[in-house]
Amino acid sequence: MTPLMQVFLFFILFISFSNADLLQDFCVADLSSPQGLAGYPCKSLCNVTADDFVFTGFRSPGNTSNSYRISITPAFAVQWPAVNGLGISTVWLEVAPGGRVPIHTHPGGTELLVVIEGTLIGGFISSSNKVYVKKLEAYDAMIFPQGLLHFQVNAGSVKAKALESFSSPSPGVQVTSTALFGNDLPSEILEKVSSIDVAEMKKLKAMFGRTN
Ligand SMILES: *[C@@H]1O[C@H](CO)[C@@H](O)[C@H](O)[C@H]1NC(C)=O
Ligand SMILES: *[C@@H]1O[C@H](CO)[C@@H](O)[C@H](O)[C@H]1NC(C)=O
Repeated sequence: MTPLMQVFLFFILFISFSNADLLQDFCVADLSSPQGLAGYPCKSLCNVTADDFVFTGFRSPGNTSNSYRISITPAFAVQWPAVNGLGISTVWLEVAPGGRVPIHTHPGGTELLVVIEGTLIGGFISSSNKVYVKKLEAYDAMIFPQGLLHFQVNAGSVKAKALESFSSPSPGVQVTSTALFGNDLPSEILEKVSSIDVAEMKKLKAMFGRTN
């Protein structure tokens, strides 16, 4: 195949994936098959009911008795198959006083956060390392652009509650400190690729239960 034909084929595939939602009304995920680049395959229409389109998981949000003092209740495609293929998903977030969502990224989607109760400090770091940080009151909304490092901290004395939306049914999440220091790469290699010396690196890795 010539390179031109390859490019052409790529575009045809790309267009058919990105317009998948135009070919049918919805595609409730069949979670028994693995997820591909374009999402999960669709559950058979005759088995789709109104219940598929309603998520009740926010009625019982999780428990903030953990070291971050947060509860995160995701409604991504895995938890809510109806969002599969629709370019959207949501999360209910609660942050107890003193709590924080550690710095992390969503490789697959932009996040829109709306504070429902309490006060949060939201911030992100752009790819030119500029920091955008703001104190948010109830009813304030903030955008965290796709792929950028970001965090939220409870800035008040009451539990903060927020609804988050994502521009992807499966935005993914990577917590930065865990990725850097909770991995299996030997400290000697991490020193070379991070300029943090081995002794300091071993200390940081020990904080995440790693000994290598
Ligand atoms: C609908 O669900 C039932 C029970 O899981 C299954 O046996 C049946 O094959 C499904 N129907 C279709 C058309 O996939
Ligand atoms: C919350 O989690 C903590 C720690 O795991 C546990 O001790 C506590 O019983 C849980 N509370 C509720 C209401 O489930």
